[in-house]
Amino acid sequence: AAIAAEAHDRFAFEEIVHGVDTTHHVAAGHEAEVLIRWGDPLFDDAPEFDPRRQSADAQERQFGYNNDYVGFVPLEGRFDRGLLVVNHEYTNEELMFPGLPGPQDEHDFSGITAEMVEIEKAAHGLSVVEVLGEGGRWRYQRNSRYNRRLSPRSTEMRIGGPAAGHERMRTAADSEGTTVIGTLNNCAGGTTPWGTILTCEENFHGYFLGDVADHPEKAKLERYGVPGNAYAWGRFDARFDVSQEPNEPNRFGWVVEIDPRDPESVPVKRTALGRFKHEGAASVIAEDGRLVVYMGDDQRFDYVYKFVSRDVVERADPAANRDLLDHGTLYVARFDEDGSVTWLPLVHGEGPLTEENGFASQADVLIDTRLAADALGATPMDRPEDVEANPATGDVYVMLTNNTQRTEEQVDAVNPRADNTFGHILEIVTEGRHTAERNHWEVLVRCGDPARGEVGALWNPATSDNGWFAAPDNCAVDARGRLWVTTDQGSNWAKSGTADGVWALETEGERRGTGKMFFRVPVGAEMCGPCFTPDDTALFVAVQHPAADGTEAFPGRDAPSTFENPATRWPDFADGMPPRPSVVAITRRGGGTIG
Ligand code: FEO
Ligand code: CA
Ligand code: CA
Ligand code: CA
Repeated sequence: AAIAAEAHDRFAFEEIVHGVDTTHHVAAGHEAEVLIRWGDPLFDDAPEFDPRRQSADAQERQFGYNNDYVGFVPLEGRFDRGLLVVNHEYTNEELMFPGLPGPQDEHDFSGITAEMVEIEKAAHGLSVVEVLGEGGRWRYQRNSRYNRRLSPRSTEMRIGGPAAGHERMRTAADSEGTTVIGTLNNCAGGTTPWGTILTCEENFHGYFLGDVADHPEKAKLERYGVPGNAYAWGRFDARFDVSQEPNEPNRFGWVVEIDPRDPESVPVKRTALGRFKHEGAASVIAEDGRLVVYMGDDQRFDYVYKFVSRDVVERADPAANRDLLDHGTLYVARFDEDGSVTWLPLVHGEGPLTEENGFASQADVLIDTRLAADALGATPMDRPEDVEANPATGDVYVMLTNNTQRTEEQVDAVNPRADNTFGHILEIVTEGRHTAERNHWEVLVRCGDPARGEVGALWNPATSDNGWFAAPDNCAVDARGRLWVTTDQGSNWAKSGTADGVWALETEGERRGTGKMFFRVPVGAEMCGPCFTPDDTALFVAVQHPAADGTEAFPGRDAPSTFENPATRWPDFADGMPPRPSVVAITRRGGGTIG
């Protein structure tokens, strides 16, 4: 059987080994080169990176921090020239600024100044940058006319869809409830068939401070964890203090659509896609030509969603899809023990979503998406991260990263492990019926080490000692229909014994459920991206927060990393230079398809 399975291996590469060290590793026969780093100048007038003399204005002309989602939009129909659109999810102050004692205590912020907060804001948001692949080597184009930085410091965005203009969206700075400065905690995302990028606002609650005891919407804020008190911003900027600006949190937690081909374009927050801690937004054109967007709400015991557009996608006329995402139906998933998934519509006036129950309009249903989904009886999941559709098979993969708070009593068929440290991956079988209100599901793998019985892992036995992984976070389906998974274990890498990375995961045939390790990150990082060029000859991966997570467990250390004393100085390894989150371009030596 082992020989037969080998014959069906759709991944030809030789896998790398589990482990943790200060640098990155890729499978033999491939090159993995740093393409762009935190602080690299995007424009001719941007200063060269100097982390000891950083300013907010400089940072806003340079590549931002903590690269997560990576999208590639071809230019002129070419696969070796395009725009990389990169999310900058959050900041690690103790690794960005000299002199800070260590990771911020959530309610202390010792040493954080107003100027640092402005630099943090400038390091958030997104970068759009032109990239070129010549002879298998990728580089970014400084000062391309397409290059752009978007940030929560300065970039004006429009609010679109049913919640636009609602009184709960209005603030002192925006009496109309239609315009907001910036986007926050952009985690993963997606690319639409018409070449725009969907960027997802995830843990926005952390940016808000303030006393909510007398807040008129205290219970609603609490369902979203507001105020999260993770950043000092509200000390210096009233809009991040909920006691001063009570509606500002309602203006975050959305999916934002950006047209990277037009640097002057105004991004739009698409409220029809709901408000929650959006991980990603994967588009697929459905059987009837409408767009379906699959999405996860990344928190323990939160939900999986899909949006179905009202109108069909105009493939020949991208401009005709300009407001496609403002009209449609949002559904939340209920996974039943019989293997069915029922998609429950979040429509005002239907079922419990009525005025008597606190939903006076569709705007209320969308601003309070989580509460509406609670009322419908959606299935609480083990932290839904990326959801990705395979256009060739119609199968949809759901990354459920972990949930150590699930008790034995809360175990169900679709979340089959209590104290789920290592996560699992679901497959939703649509048979191409993406707009259906009912599909079926299966567990594809239960992650973690299959050699340790107490873990309860489930893999194809063809999986090697290095092929299993933990905490699936992002994923991509390449042009050949193969699934690739990246992981984010946080400080749990000390429990699995390996750093995060990229694994290939077979989904079909005798090798279904077989993992294979392709790439590994330096200590303390998580692995984001992953993004293939449309011809699969390049894979862009984002190494997020090197030296940050759990580095006190790294051999020879007993303290968390700081700017002065990080666990790795990847990728520069220069004296005094801090670690730098960076996007890496992977190619096959001598050309050809990745993997
Ligand atoms: Fe930002 Fe759900 O990871
Ligand atoms: Ca993620
Ligand atoms: Ca993550
Ligand atoms: Ca992270």
